[in-house]
Amino acid sequence: MSIKKISEIQPESFEFSKDNLLKAESEIKKYPKDRKASALLALLYLVQKQNDHWIPLAAIKYVAKFLSVPYMQVYEVSTFYSMFNLSPVGKYFVQVCTTTPCMIRGSKKIVDICKKLISKNQYELSENKLCSWTEVECLGACVNAPMMQINQDYFEDLDENKTEEIIQTLLEDKLAKSGSAKNRKSAAPEKGKTTLVEVKNA
Ligand code: FES
Repeated sequence: MSIKKISEIQPESFEFSKDNLLKAESEIKKYPKDRKASALLALLYLVQKQNDHWIPLAAIKYVAKFLSVPYMQVYEVSTFYSMFNLSPVGKYFVQVCTTTPCMIRGSKKIVDICKKLISKNQYELSENKLCSWTEVECLGACVNAPMMQINQDYFEDLDENKTEEIIQTLLEDKLAKSGSAKNRKSAAPEKGKTTLVEVKNA
C-alpha cells in the first residue's frame, strides 16, 4: 500500500469503547502510579482488538495521552513488534506459520492457498476487503503442524482441503470452528491418549 493510500485510510480520531476504557484503567492499576507506561503493550493490544486488528495513528496519539508519555515512545513500540499492524488487515487476519516443523508438514501449500483465495501479496486485502494474510514465525503449536492463526484463534493439523474450506468460510464473512482439523484434543495423540488414561480431563 502506498504512503498516500495509508494516509487516506487513517481515521481522524480514536477512543476506547466503554468496555475497553474500563479494561485499560484496570491494566494501569497493576503498576505503580509513576509507572503507567508499563501498561503500554496491554493498551495497544486493546486498541488493535477494538479496531479490526490494526492500530491507526490517531490511536497511537490517544494512547500516548492516556499514559502521559511522548507520542514517539508509543510509535516506537507499535512499529517494533510485528504483532501490531499499522494498516488495515481486514475483519479476518490470517497468520500462517512457516517455521521448520510447519514447513516440513506442508505450510507452503497453505501459503499458496492464501495467495490463490485471499490475495497475491502478504498484507493485501481480499477483493471483498474482509481478509488478508501473512507468513509468521513459530506460533508455539508445532505439535499440531501445520497451523495458522485467524484473529485470536488457532487452526491446526491442516491439509489443503481443510485450509480451503476455512478460507472460503472467511470470505463469506464467517469464522470456522477453531482447533485441530483432526479433532484431537489439544496435542493429544491422534488415536486417543495412551497415558494418564484413568485421569479425567487430563
Ligand atoms: S513451527 Fe509452526 S507452530 Fe511452531
